[in-house]
Amino acid sequence: MKKGKFITIDGIEGAGKSTQIDFICDYLSNKGVNVILTREPGGTELGEKIRELLLSSETKSMHSDTELMMMFAARNEHIHSKIMPALAQGDWILSDRFTDASYAYQGGGRGLDIKRIAQLERWVLQDFSPDMTLLLDVPVELGMSRVESRGKKDRIELEDMDFFNRVREAYIDRSKQFPDRIKLIDSSQTVEHTKQQIKAILGLL
Ligand SMILES: Nc1ncnc2c1ncn2[C@@H]1O[C@H](COP(=O)(O)OP(=O)(O)O)[C@@H](O)[C@H]1O
Ligand SMILES: [Mg+2]
Repeated sequence: MKKGKFITIDGIEGAGKSTQIDFICDYLSNKGVNVILTREPGGTELGEKIRELLLSSETKSMHSDTELMMMFAARNEHIHSKIMPALAQGDWILSDRFTDASYAYQGGGRGLDIKRIAQLERWVLQDFSPDMTLLLDVPVELGMSRVESRGKKDRIELEDMDFFNRVREAYIDRSKQFPDRIKLIDSSQTVEHTKQQIKAILGLL
């Protein structure tokens, strides 16, 4: 029985997810909510090992279906060993990325058939879904310029602009498909501007 709420934050690199997460945690904590921060791929001991395999630039080749299934394998572990138990005891979970990222990166970016992603989603998640998803949107060039100084790129970050433009478009499509759950937020201006929009949306919870 789920008592807590499950919130996810998503968007391309440099959209501002990590920056805004601290603010969201503070906001919820001030409301007396016990919020647990997590991320995908990863979030569990095994999931973090899968993340390393997925993101290491030393992993030279990987079939797109392998990538998709590893994402969902990590997610299955995440849901069963961390997310569900926390929600059952009334904690809230805030995840940096979740299933929408599979539709955006493996669907939009890699061009995998959406139906196959939906099959895995049904298998792994059944009818489980975030209560709310904050989708931070920025033009790809701006996102890239924000993260330029970050150092060595991971295996997925090494993709080209076209890839990330498809990822961004797929995220936007998802927000149109699920307008009640996915809140599209313009994150192209100041940190404060993004924060104010997030604050207004969290007020609806
Ligand atoms: N509106 C904004 N919201 C969040 N971060 C922003 C914004 N504008 C500029 N930034 C800057 O962009 C950089 C990348 O943000 P980050 O939170 O690491 O993105 P992500 O985790 O989505 O890749 C940070 O240095 C942050 O200060
Ligand atoms: Mg981040």
